[in-house]
Amino acid sequence: MIDWHYPRPELAQAHLAQLFDQGLSRLAFFGRRRIGKTEYLKRDLIPAAAEKGVVNTFYCSFWENKDQPHLALIRALQDALPEHQAKVKAKAGLNFGVVDFSAEVERADRPRPALPNELTLATTSFQQWVKYLDGRPGLIVLDEIQHLATSSAFATFAASLRTMLDMAPPNIAVIFTGSSLADLQRLFNDQKAPFFNFATVVDFPLLDRPFVDHLARINQMITGLEIKADLLWDLFNRSGRNAQVITGLVSQMVLRKSDDIVGTWEDIEIELTGEGGWCEKAWSDLLLSDQAVYLLLLEGQDLFSESSLALYERLGFSRGSAQQAIKRLINRSLIARNGHGRYERIVPILDEWMKLTGKTSQMLLPPPAAA
Ligand SMILES: Nc1ncnc2c1ncn2[C@@H]1O[C@H](COP(=O)(O)OP(=O)(O)OP(=O)(O)O)[C@@H](O)[C@H]1O
Ligand SMILES: [Mg+2]
Repeated sequence: MIDWHYPRPELAQAHLAQLFDQGLSRLAFFGRRRIGKTEYLKRDLIPAAAEKGVVNTFYCSFWENKDQPHLALIRALQDALPEHQAKVKAKAGLNFGVVDFSAEVERADRPRPALPNELTLATTSFQQWVKYLDGRPGLIVLDEIQHLATSSAFATFAASLRTMLDMAPPNIAVIFTGSSLADLQRLFNDQKAPFFNFATVVDFPLLDRPFVDHLARINQMITGLEIKADLLWDLFNRSGRNAQVITGLVSQMVLRKSDDIVGTWEDIEIELTGEGGWCEKAWSDLLLSDQAVYLLLLEGQDLFSESSLALYERLGFSRGSAQQAIKRLINRSLIARNGHGRYERIVPILDEWMKLTGKTSQMLLPPPAAA
């Protein structure tokens, strides 16, 4: 069967060297939604760890049980213990969910704190796992860790998880991943945070041009048609390097046995930029302050210039609210801070939609009262 997965062995080797050879035994990967974090962990990092001699890895996604993330951990630990170990290979194949920037509900419905006996069960399961390793290398992968920062109901569990991990001997490395920078910072950077100074937060590298060439090759292998990788690359960038959108596009082309990137993209784009599409929803979900900040960035303005501050004032919010707005926009993966400390927009398709619909910062102001 053709494997759609684009492997990143060098990245996995580099991370494993940091974790197991260079003594940076705890890393937290931050990267916006749908850029391939989970797929990398499951298909590249974990198998490479096994080849490097890491005896056991346990993987837990806290989104597996959003209301009771502690139960996700208990289950993952119990699955990892040898008697339960069922080796399930990650599935590879076509991706039919074409456009899904962030359809999942990110918060828990009814968050429930862990009961004391559940915390005990988590701790004893963890101790059993450590005992099973018996000094041999082990790896803990905790995906969507930021979820623990989303409700005060998870505070006790987060604190016991920290204690558990603190007890882990040096043969055990830990990787956290999160898609919300603000929530990650709440967990790792605040002085009172449960994981304060516990792991080094690093940016997760975006998939690059070779990934797109790989998808073009797959298309050719299946359909026999050569597609223009340059055009695919351009669309990948326009989607904000969203791996799901671009694999979705190529899957559609395979299904249609087509080499018509533009035509297929147009159909997909409708779901993004059409009426009631992703852009419209993403925009209407923003607060007024978020919209103002985004539009000022789009217009190339300095966010804290005199004229920008004047606009905030006329819209009825303060400089502090603008700062909060920046955080929310980062959190929603709409903007990011670049290496020079400047904020940049990262989903070009949203900008295109805004230009198409003629949005400007001045339009946010209420119309002047009639004389
Ligand atoms: N290396 C890859 N090769 C092929 N397809 C990929 C790869 N990485 C990601 N994808 C595609 O992109 C989709 C999204 O990737 P993934 O779920 O790993 O993203 P994520 O960063 O973990 O997102 P989230 O923050 O929403 O959890 C995958 O389901 C797959 O279709
Ligand atoms: Mg993921």
